[in-house]
Amino acid sequence: MPRLSIMPHPDLCPHGTEFQVEPDEMLCDALLNRGVMIEHACEKSAACATCHVVVRAGFDSLEPPDEIEDDLLDQAWGLTPLSRLSCQVVIADQDLVLEIPRYTVNLSRENEAD
Ligand code: FES
Repeated sequence: MPRLSIMPHPDLCPHGTEFQVEPDEMLCDALLNRGVMIEHACEKSAACATCHVVVRAGFDSLEPPDEIEDDLLDQAWGLTPLSRLSCQVVIADQDLVLEIPRYTVNLSRENEAD
């Protein structure tokens, strides 16, 4: 089973954490089910970008993002070339190291204001 390592985040996991996950598990669910309460304001429907993570290791083991995910990521706070929306990522068979960005922008709320 792959291991998921989460780098320290001041609010969500101050000391970092690590646990085993099932291949084919959704990344956002894997975090939430093990107590890392990452934001997921649009209930995992690829509309808000609050579930943004940076995949510091294992990025290439994941299926590439689709166009909707790519478009949302373009507007995410702290975007990097290793950024993904955790609600759109299916864990593969390799270990992952994740950084959860310190800030989020809820794009579904931003778009409501238009
Ligand atoms: S939970 Fe909203 S985009 Fe992932």
